[in-house]
Amino acid sequence: MKIISIVGARPNFMKIAPFAHAIERHNTDLLTKNKERGTKNSIEHILVHTGQHYDARMSKTFFDTLKIPHPDIDLGIGSGTHAEQVGNTMIAFEKVLQEHQPDWVVVVGDVNATCACSITAKKEHIKVAHIEAGLRSFDMEMPEEINRLVTDRLSDLLFTPDELSSENLRKEGVPEEKIKFVGNIMIDTLEAHREEAAKLDITEIIAKNRLVPSSFQLSALSPQPFPGALVPLSKSQISAFSFLNFSFSLMTMHRPSNVDSKEILEPIIDFLIEEVCKNNPLLWAIHPRAKKQLKAFGLWERIVATENLILLHPLSYHEMLRLNMGADLMLTDSGGLQEECCVLGTPCMTLRWNTERPITLREHGGASVLVGNAIENLQREYATIRTLNRTPQRPPLWDGHTADRIVEIMASPISA
Ligand code: UD1
Repeated sequence: MKIISIVGARPNFMKIAPFAHAIERHNTDLLTKNKERGTKNSIEHILVHTGQHYDARMSKTFFDTLKIPHPDIDLGIGSGTHAEQVGNTMIAFEKVLQEHQPDWVVVVGDVNATCACSITAKKEHIKVAHIEAGLRSFDMEMPEEINRLVTDRLSDLLFTPDELSSENLRKEGVPEEKIKFVGNIMIDTLEAHREEAAKLDITEIIAKNRLVPSSFQLSALSPQPFPGALVPLSKSQISAFSFLNFSFSLMTMHRPSNVDSKEILEPIIDFLIEEVCKNNPLLWAIHPRAKKQLKAFGLWERIVATENLILLHPLSYHEMLRLNMGADLMLTDSGGLQEECCVLGTPCMTLRWNTERPITLREHGGASVLVGNAIENLQREYATIRTLNRTPQRPPLWDGHTADRIVEIMASPISA
């Protein structure tokens, strides 16, 4: 069987890594168990990178860290409007399909590449499997919701991360035999890398990834005084206080609904500077879109000048996981981080009015709470959330073995 799988943007990489590794395990198992069967049922896997995210820090570092095979084909699409990204991807991917004629196209998540490649595959009469199917925010203003709806409508196999997502698909009339509840593939990656990430030193992560030098002293991360720790720290300084317990908040924010309008972004920045940073340092791993908008709205200088606000480059997977393990609080509008906070137990304020991942919410046993972007909400929740204890939760089948279940289903005679 020949499978083409697609990656395009950062959140795809942690979903495709376990899938690629599960195919490798499947092929090795077949070869060792039964040579003849192995030749017959082995999976030929071609990995296509659309190139929606192209910076080393947004893309290549994830291939290295997560040991994702080098993409066989790079479409080099890059930035653009949504129509440009989707259109250019479709034009380039059609040629790939015509040349390679796969049995299946496997797409993950909800980015523009997911939607563009599903449409192209179906028009070429090639079966589509969607990993992370059935998520719904019911918010048609979110570009990802449109990508999810289109992809799920076209898919022949829909692999869901939780039963709420399976239920969404049933309500939309998707036939039962297409819906496969397999668990959350992101958690495969988290479990595979948890130990490695735990070895990283938080101050080293900060020193390595600081975006702008500022007056912030790394000593402020420690409840105890640390003399003269101006950035950059020397190696000996770093190791001298790496054993101390830090208290910090962690943040990511990039959604157009939060960063594309000054009326919304500015009060959030005020809240961060006047409240969050007053309590403890805030580490903000900044997405290119957010950085661009902060500069455009004239807010960049203010955040750079805020002593307790540490701006970081986009982080590697291990670095983000390590910081999430140590943070007192997560502030985010990312979907994947909501899920990781759920499993790690990090109290999470989700800066969105809705979520396609309700299973991560406190009312479903998770660690996250929706606060939207109204400042009264942020203030109210911030006052209480930091008093909560870490309570890690593991929804059913978020067990680190989702990719194996997917490959087993795809390799079964019915799917083939
Ligand atoms: C995309 C996904 C979103 C995901 C997010 C995570 C869609 C519709 N959205 O949003 O679901 O949560 O990625 O990162 O697919 N840029 C760079 N360097 C890069 C990539 C982008 O500078 O490597 C710039 C682009 O020029 C663009 C901006 O960042 O101006 C946004 O990139 P884009 O691909 O349009 O979408 P994201 O906001 O990253």
